[in-house]
Amino acid sequence: MSKKDITRRQFLNYTLTGVGGFMASAISLPMLRFAVDPVLQTKEDSDYVVTDKKIADITNEPVRVDFAFEQKDGWYKSNVTNTAWVFKDENGKIVALSPVCTHLGCMVDWNTNKKHPEQFYCPCHDGLYKKDGTNVEGTPPTRPLDVYPYKEVDGYLALGKAKPRGEA
Ligand code: FES
Repeated sequence: MSKKDITRRQFLNYTLTGVGGFMASAISLPMLRFAVDPVLQTKEDSDYVVTDKKIADITNEPVRVDFAFEQKDGWYKSNVTNTAWVFKDENGKIVALSPVCTHLGCMVDWNTNKKHPEQFYCPCHDGLYKKDGTNVEGTPPTRPLDVYPYKEVDGYLALGKAKPRGEA
């Protein structure tokens, strides 16, 4: 047998190593992509959702604005409906508040509690917020309602992701 000849055992070793490596990469590369791809995705400017509320129609009285959008979580897409309480403050600036109570996450309502008119009321544990969204001392919530950043798109109100006051 010459030096260039390979034995049957060597041939099997090379072949199995090659096939094994191919199968390992075929399995691990999609998993690697699954783990890394969401991180590499660029953030689109689609973080704002255009509502059906005309900017010109917003007054000093808080109104409920519902808006729906498609949410992507990795590769999972779902349709989500959100709500904002929208009004203009005394300076004419638009305020869009999250309805989610900062105590334990129930939904607040505007001006529904007769004992506390002109306030946001949370029925779960009698939480109260002033019109600007700040929590009323002595009630369960310990911080203000979150605030939606907003912009105007063709005369309509577009809302971003609600954030704690000061971050919006
Ligand atoms: S969840 Fe709103 S007061 Fe408790």
